[in-house]
Amino acid sequence: MRKKIVAGNWKMNTTPSQAIDLIEKLKPLVKNDDVEVIFCVPYVSLMLAVDAVKDTKIGIGAQNFYFEESGAYTGEISASMLKDIGVKYVIIGHSERRQYFNETDEIVNKKLLKAFEYEITPIVCCGETLEQREAGVTIDHITTQIKNAFRNVSDDLAKKAIIAYEPIWAIGTGVVATSDQAEEVCASIRACISEIYDKETAEIISILYGGSVSSANVKELFKKHNIDGGLVGGVSLKPEFGDVVNYK
Ligand code: PGA
Repeated sequence: MRKKIVAGNWKMNTTPSQAIDLIEKLKPLVKNDDVEVIFCVPYVSLMLAVDAVKDTKIGIGAQNFYFEESGAYTGEISASMLKDIGVKYVIIGHSERRQYFNETDEIVNKKLLKAFEYEITPIVCCGETLEQREAGVTIDHITTQIKNAFRNVSDDLAKKAIIAYEPIWAIGTGVVATSDQAEEVCASIRACISEIYDKETAEIISILYGGSVSSANVKELFKKHNIDGGLVGGVSLKPEFGDVVNYK
């Protein structure tokens, strides 16, 4: 049985002092040994956040990093820097990064390989636009994204990855995918992993759904066989996040 994972994507929200206040507020609300809880906070709050959760099982994740080792990349943060301060997870290829910062599948792949090199668990995002869904090319598009992301990743490492299926039309819109729509794509991602690697790897890898997850829809979504949890944006900044973690 795969353990459920609930990761909060705080995006560009909260100052460091607000982040610490929020973590202290959420800590008692997200106690659940059956669920792996992750807070992906802004860079400048990472060190404080790692310290703030040290007496808990909550993991801290970054929302991005740059794939080069070090050097003249003004403004960038490396995987070794994240590793050194105790960051355990990193979101890679979120649709907002693809849309606003031109992140390509090739960059996503480089980041995935680098995150593994530093034993940081990648949360690899994929998802289709509304136009792609309406054109009936969702599964093709997602399969391409997954195949490109996992190029040259060994099966042993792939088993440790977390994939997040996030339909772009459902992110921040309040329009959640139906549990059947989400399950269909998550199942196809698992089939794709099975095709790239093998059935065992596909059974082990965690696949989350993201896009307007809330306390109102979490139960329905998490019931599905191929949905191993959620990547949660808006609600991750509210006490309601506790209800998502304690979805049962
Ligand atoms: P949302 O964001 O829950 O606000 O839709 C999800 C995400 O972008 O990861």
